Amino acid sequence: MNVDKKLEELPLTKSKPETLLSLFGNSDILPMWVADMEFEIDGSIQDSLIKRISNSGFGYEYKPESFFAAQTKWYKGQYEIDLIRDQVFNSPSITTTISVVIENMTSENDGVIIQPPVFMEFKDVIQGTNRKIVKNPLKLVDRHYKIDFQDLEEKAKLDSNRVLILCNPHNPVGRVWTKTELERVIVICMENNILLISDEIHKDIILFDNQFTSIWNYAGKWEKIVICTSEAKTFNLCGISDSMAIIPDEDLRNSIISTFKKYNLGRTNVLTRIALEAAYENGGVWLSDLIRTIEKNVNTIEHEISNTKSKIKLIKPEGTYQVWLDFRNVYRDTKEMFSHITENSRIGMNAGHWFGREGALFMRMNIATSNEKVLKSIKSIMKAVHQNV
Ligand SMILES: Cc1ncc(COP(=O)(O)O)c(C=O)c1O
Repeated sequence: MNVDKKLEELPLTKSKPETLLSLFGNSDILPMWVADMEFEIDGSIQDSLIKRISNSGFGYEYKPESFFAAQTKWYKGQYEIDLIRDQVFNSPSITTTISVVIENMTSENDGVIIQPPVFMEFKDVIQGTNRKIVKNPLKLVDRHYKIDFQDLEEKAKLDSNRVLILCNPHNPVGRVWTKTELERVIVICMENNILLISDEIHKDIILFDNQFTSIWNYAGKWEKIVICTSEAKTFNLCGISDSMAIIPDEDLRNSIISTFKKYNLGRTNVLTRIALEAAYENGGVWLSDLIRTIEKNVNTIEHEISNTKSKIKLIKPEGTYQVWLDFRNVYRDTKEMFSHITENSRIGMNAGHWFGREGALFMRMNIATSNEKVLKSIKSIMKAVHQNV
């Protein structure tokens, strides 16, 4: 899988000098933080886009049957989901859907449960809608994160807590929740009348024979579910792709759609449609190649860490193209850890505490790049860290 050298010509968010300076205190940083990829995208997606822009018609378009046929086939083949067209609608972004659902289905100061350390924008959305963040922190046992079900049950029992946002696969810790875990989550939601929002954006990057199960599979059991998903991460299309929401229950769906209509949020654009249709039709081989590449990168990090008997610990991901590194054996203070590693390695990773204080003394590293770069980077990080030991 080739790294696209031309990416450097683009004004990428992850390498914007002002952003690097404000986050890392230096603009001379190798960015391994924002979750996008450095690989050449699938050739058929690029060819379809080139062909499309050679036609000068950019008026309003509808999604033709061929789009839905390709999408339905992809969802069945990849995740055993029988997409029903009426249950699916377009959204500008996953975070937009989460905001709308929270606003629509809860009242100010109601509690929304999240499972930190977790994707930081969940917190922004909850605060932005004037709801209360309720934490059900994940438990780390022998380098394996688990849901604290007892705590979840206690939080779910409180009448003021109305929603749970599940992240599956989980960003940043890389868990792919098992059927057993998902069944327990569903039972807790059912017993306590909790609306479950499942963010499944990372669903295609499943590593080392782990298995992804969509919450869609439990729609017959619990009606209050919203699945937020997109293939933006999968095919590195975040710059052009929007997202979709799947809401099997008719009443819930109609209520959410009414807000989408109110703000005219349901639009998509021509290039998104073209890219996605090509991805659904032809992207499978590229995706398998990507997964093997990410697995190799994870193995490289694991090997380097264990070979050098490093005090850094790897939380081996089951999914996503990020690794979650544990520095608790090296540092005592999270800010000191962040500035020491950043200054000495010049690698820009996400500090764990950006995902909530439960992530303190961890870092998230994006490994969707060449194996050479991953190897060089982990060596630089280890060198920086071990000066501190
Ligand atoms: C778990 C998760 N959800 C949502 C997003 C962002 O999705 P969107 O840009 O569609 O809001 C990300 C991006 O990194 C993510 O990791």
